[in-house]
Amino acid sequence: MTHVIVLGNEKGGSGKSTTAMHLIVALLKSGHKVGAIDLDLRQQSLTRYLENRKNFSELNGKDLSFPVVSEVHASSLDSREASKSCETETLQAALSRLEGCDFAVIDCPGANTHLSRIAHKHADTIVTPLNDSFVDFDLLARLDPETGKITGPSLYSEMVWQARKERAMTGVPGGIDWVVIRNRLSATRARNKKNVGDKLDDLASRIGFRMARGFGDRVIYRELFPMGLTLLDLGGRDAPVRLSTMSHVTARLESRSLVASLNLPQTEFHEEAA
Ligand SMILES: Nc1ncnc2c1ncn2[C@@H]1O[C@H](COP(=O)(O)OP(=O)(O)O)[C@@H](O)[C@H]1O
Ligand SMILES: [Mg+2]
Repeated sequence: MTHVIVLGNEKGGSGKSTTAMHLIVALLKSGHKVGAIDLDLRQQSLTRYLENRKNFSELNGKDLSFPVVSEVHASSLDSREASKSCETETLQAALSRLEGCDFAVIDCPGANTHLSRIAHKHADTIVTPLNDSFVDFDLLARLDPETGKITGPSLYSEMVWQARKERAMTGVPGGIDWVVIRNRLSATRARNKKNVGDKLDDLASRIGFRMARGFGDRVIYRELFPMGLTLLDLGGRDAPVRLSTMSHVTARLESRSLVASLNLPQTEFHEEAA
């Protein structure tokens, strides 16, 4: 069975594609067969990331590993209903093409599209990167502006809830493991970091997700995109690019520990080893 990992959050810029790419490379490096589906049909950041990787590999004669890419196109049908069912089938077919893979990583757009909703229903693991801000928190839950208390779930949590419900109805064994990660944590702004963190801890048990540490806010994550590389490609004697600063070493550790915290089946990664 292919374990499906969906990167989702109804907001752009929170780190879905960057995390997807790091996850893909981590799983490839541990010897797994990995499939990739880019559902952000407009920005196509994951597709571009992988194209950059291919170019870098060819230009520099570096032997890099790649996932099996399964393409999905938007439906061009006029009728809304027909278009939806066409997209449902298209995604199903894209996943079927990855049947021999141990993992399928699906990168979703930062918007509530039909393809994204369907992808969430196929998920075994949902990974939601969140920036350290109450603007991002608002997509998970509403807060009472006066008391600061959580008043109820919000847009994205409702989408996950719906996905869980539909998965349960289809009789697929096991639930969806939903992991929220705090991405781009800054070393400063400690008070806001703590405030958002406290609220997330409070919310986690109420709406059924668990928290994991994401990536710190580091320039290196932005710089690697044009080369199609991840922190996990750096370091070592044969590495295409050497790790040059302490910040890079820390970043590499944090990407390893993120993958470990997902507790994915059949991987060498697990929390204790991080
Ligand atoms: N940990 C990080 N530190 C610094 N920049 C980051 C980090 N994670 C992502 N970014 C940058 O933030 C922007 C948005 O990230 P991206 O992964 O494309 O988000 P999304 O897919 O959710 O829209 C990109 O410019 C990316 O390089
Ligand atoms: Mg993206």
